[in-house]
Amino acid sequence: YDSGVAKTPYMGWNTYYGLGAPSEKEIRSIADFLVSSGMRDAGYRLLWIDGGWTAPTPRTAQGDLQEDPAKFPSGIKKLVGDLHAQGFKAGIYTDAGPSDGKNCAAGSGGGFYEKDTKRFAEWKFDAVKVDFLCGIAANLKPAQAYADFSKAVKKAGRPMILNICNPVTSEWGVPHTPDQTADISYTFGPLHGDSWRTSTDIAFGTPYEGIWRDVLRNMDRNAAHPEANGPGHYNDPDYLIPMRKTQQGTYELNEEESTSQFVMWAQMSSPLIIGSDPRTLPPSMVSTLKNPEILAVDQDPLAIQGVRVATTGDTDVYSKVLSHRGERSVVLLNRRDVPAEMTVDFAAAGLKGTVSVRDLRARADRGTATGRYTVTVPPHGTAMLKLRGTDLVPGEAVG
Ligand code: GLA
Repeated sequence: YDSGVAKTPYMGWNTYYGLGAPSEKEIRSIADFLVSSGMRDAGYRLLWIDGGWTAPTPRTAQGDLQEDPAKFPSGIKKLVGDLHAQGFKAGIYTDAGPSDGKNCAAGSGGGFYEKDTKRFAEWKFDAVKVDFLCGIAANLKPAQAYADFSKAVKKAGRPMILNICNPVTSEWGVPHTPDQTADISYTFGPLHGDSWRTSTDIAFGTPYEGIWRDVLRNMDRNAAHPEANGPGHYNDPDYLIPMRKTQQGTYELNEEESTSQFVMWAQMSSPLIIGSDPRTLPPSMVSTLKNPEILAVDQDPLAIQGVRVATTGDTDVYSKVLSHRGERSVVLLNRRDVPAEMTVDFAAAGLKGTVSVRDLRARADRGTATGRYTVTVPPHGTAMLKLRGTDLVPGEAVG
């Protein structure tokens, strides 16, 4: 499956982590902010409505899914039209399982895949996220359910990104059939979707401090299957959650940690969907998220996922092949709570000869070097370098 809508990783914002239940008023306000802050023009163009958009009675008597009129007074169709007119694309959310009227409010299971995808197409959505919480409750088999859903999207009459949400792990704390317990989405995701979640939710419930370890968990799981990533097909490590506030008013991730998440997601050519409410971000964070040189790594047309080429256990070096001959993006990640002096060995990154070094976070040239380059990386931090040298031929001895 490839909708054709996302030849490079899609970028945008999703309602779930910043708003909880979505509403038209807040979505319009955030759309305006994305325009005025320059984020839309930096590439954040897909506005994605997550769960909680349906009416208390999710379907009409004719069986059509309907929006909550209290939260979407102009109606979804009008909202999507207005977002398109503002230069955005729009995404919507459903579930592969049926609504059970209790835990699982609204889903397309129970025979509604074709009806619902047609309606999403009529509303002119550009993307559909298909969760599996109702699917788990109904004990569906994810590979089959997503194959069926994917067929329905193809018939719906409009190209729409299909994002396969869950389940991918056994962490959901609900009974699973055997084929729901492992990290399985790689096996069927590329066949049926444009993107597939590679780990559980990056954050659960109320914001809390210490979420850095959850970011690393999602990153490491996503990093495990670089072969699945490519143009139109993306591993999905879940949303960026820069600088959300905890209930105590502190940050869930500090600015360096938030930047590390952004840098690592770009290094993996992942979709860049912001989960935090962008209106609450400090200007320096907004400016980081707009950094065109980091975004260019994420958006490189080859969409090759960066891979780990060296590790000491808590400091890692990742190298990403870029489409321009002799170029690599290299990220040095420091998982420690103290600064680390870190070195990239050019041969490990696949290069030989004299190498020019550019610091993509600082957007500054650092001259040329041979053999290796060393930087000091802050706690929970990253350095992101663009190297330009000569490609090593695989198997070639380093001279
Ligand atoms: C699941 C998904 C999240 C989000 C919520 C909405 O937890 O994994 O991304 O869509 O449901 O309730």
